[in-house]
Amino acid sequence: MSSVIKGATVVSTHGQRQLDVKIADGKIAELGVDVATSADEVVDATGCYLFPGFIDAHTHLKLDNGPGTPDTADNFKTGSIAAIANGTTSVIDMATPHRGHSLEACLKTWNEAAAGNSSCDYSYHMSLIEWNQQLAAEIPKMAAHGITSFKMYMAYDNLRTSDAEIYAAMKAIKSVHGMLGIHCESGALINALQAEYLAAGLTAPKYHALTRPNQLEAEAVNRYLTIARLVDLPVNIVHLSTREALAVVRAARAKGQKVFVETCPQYLLLDEHCYDLPNFAGAKYVCSPPLRSQRDELALWQALAGNEINTISTDHCDFNFKDKKRIGKDDFTKIPGGMPGIETRPQLIYTAGVTTGKLSLTQFVGLLSENIARQFGMYPQKGVIQVGSDADLVIWDPEKSGVIAAKTQLQHVDYSPFEGFKTKGAARTVYLRGQKIVDNGRVVTTGKGQFVARHGSDYELV
Ligand code: URP
Ligand code: ZN
Ligand code: ZN
Ligand code: ZN
Repeated sequence: MSSVIKGATVVSTHGQRQLDVKIADGKIAELGVDVATSADEVVDATGCYLFPGFIDAHTHLKLDNGPGTPDTADNFKTGSIAAIANGTTSVIDMATPHRGHSLEACLKTWNEAAAGNSSCDYSYHMSLIEWNQQLAAEIPKMAAHGITSFKMYMAYDNLRTSDAEIYAAMKAIKSVHGMLGIHCESGALINALQAEYLAAGLTAPKYHALTRPNQLEAEAVNRYLTIARLVDLPVNIVHLSTREALAVVRAARAKGQKVFVETCPQYLLLDEHCYDLPNFAGAKYVCSPPLRSQRDELALWQALAGNEINTISTDHCDFNFKDKKRIGKDDFTKIPGGMPGIETRPQLIYTAGVTTGKLSLTQFVGLLSENIARQFGMYPQKGVIQVGSDADLVIWDPEKSGVIAAKTQLQHVDYSPFEGFKTKGAARTVYLRGQKIVDNGRVVTTGKGQFVARHGSDYELV
């Protein structure tokens, strides 16, 4: 099967050009002006942009926090359909082993969940929720399997490790040229604040935010970067949300430290006022870190414009409002944390960033695709439209408008945090390794995703 896409403006981080693109055998075969149309299919994409498939480097499609904890509303099957419908062709999910179990066992569990179910290509960040010699020995084995990125936590009692364990893990990760991402919030201080609030009878969702103040993100980021400096390891900060943490990153970079920063649409488009919504609706917005102030949003947009933030992923981790979020009706600490987002990131960032002039098209492509591919060892297989790359392509109609609504979403969850947002721009056609998955905005084929074996990270990017 071969196709030629004609007339679109092809976008990369280097610029944009009207070029024809020929796809054959799942790869980009030719790129040029007036490419011969001897193909099975010729697609007229005049007036559209052609983007490399978007990559979501932060999803929880198989959250497994052990017995008694609620399941996420989406899984690989449903979440990846929602993703690819709007142009996200690859996901990197958070794989989390049980305590005392091997990374190998966890990898097997995640492969079983994704294989045959995922409509996106997929990989995982392997979580390290403890540290010992067996796990250290498994890091090179993970790299050999193509798992070159790892995740650790400074918050959540069931997931966080000590600073000394982070230090030791960093050394192992450095030896495989891997990428570490850490959830940066001071877990011990959050516990103390939560106990204080609950003892005072303050149980509503808004206290979720008040017990996780900005300084606790900045403190954790500073500690993380201090440890990374000892090891001389370039590191990633996931879901950065505050201006105080940005200041810590700036200071570290000014001293020559290599720091990658991810943020998410919710920290750019929603703020702490959501927690004041009546009828417990604030629980829909309970995620960690919490939604912040409008000053933080502004600081994040300015950092994006100045190329100080490298990637935008979603932290998609959704729980139904009706039954799951309500578990925390009388105690905000029991509200399952996380929000849906895998479906809406491209339109939200295109609308709020590109159509307003806050972001250029080339920045947009970097933040949602190319930078992610490079940072996580998938480039140039993914993240770019060039000869030899996978034909993961999004024909983007910049004129198509829409309104985000839970009623019409593909995400398998009973609400949308972005309900009523008006969007401009949408994926018209999406190809995954040359196969047409979305046609005229509708998903026509599912379950075609494959595991992506990744190489080491490009540390020179920051
Ligand atoms: O509240 C959130 N974000 N839940 C998902 C896990 C995480 O912290 O990324
Ligand atoms: Zn193995
Ligand atoms: Zn996190
Ligand atoms: Zn997460």
